[in-house]
Amino acid sequence: MKPTDILKEEHHGVKLALKVLGRINERIAANPGALDAAYVSDCAKLLDFFRVFVDKCHHAKEEEVLFPALLESGLPREGGPVQAMLAEHDTGRRLVAEMYAALADYRSGTPGAVTDLAAAAQRYTQLLVNHIATEDNILYPLADAGIPQPVQDGMVEAFEEIETDRIGLGTHEQFHAMLKEFKSAYLK
Ligand SMILES: [Fe+2]
Ligand SMILES: [Fe+2]
Repeated sequence: MKPTDILKEEHHGVKLALKVLGRINERIAANPGALDAAYVSDCAKLLDFFRVFVDKCHHAKEEEVLFPALLESGLPREGGPVQAMLAEHDTGRRLVAEMYAALADYRSGTPGAVTDLAAAAQRYTQLLVNHIATEDNILYPLADAGIPQPVQDGMVEAFEEIETDRIGLGTHEQFHAMLKEFKSAYLK
C-alpha cells in the first residue's frame, strides 16, 4: 500500500464524520431550546475525532512525513501547495476549538450558541472538503510520482509510528467503530 493510499483511506473516514456532524447540527438546530443530551454527546465524540484522529494523527502524518518528503522532492517551501495545506490545517484547528467552545456554551445554555456551533461546523466542513479534494487530486499524485520508492516505503513505517505514539494502539479502530455506528444512526 502506498503512503497516499493510507491517507486517502483516512479521508473517507473524515468525509463520513463531516456528514454526520452536519446531520447532528441540523437536529440540534431544529430544536434549540430543548437540549438533547444524546445529540450533544455524539457531537462531542465527533469533535474528539477531529481533534485526536484528524489533527493528532492524520495531519501529523502529512506535516511530519509527507510534506517534508514533498519538499525534498523539489516542491517549493513557500508559495506552493505545501504552505497552503499547512495554513488550512491551522484554520481547521482554530475551527475545531470554536466548535468545542460553542458546544460548551450550548450545554450551559448560552443564547446564540447553536448558531455559533452550526456556523463553525459549516466552515470546518467546507474547509476540509476542499482541502481533501486538493490533496487527493493534486498533492498526493505529486507525491506518488515525485517521491522515490524507498522513501515511500519508509513513510508507511513512519505513519505506523505516529499512530502508535500519538494516539495509541487501537484508537484508530475505536474511531472507525464509532463512525460505523454513527453512519447507521444518522445517515440512513
Ligand atoms: Fe491535510
Ligand atoms: Fe489529508
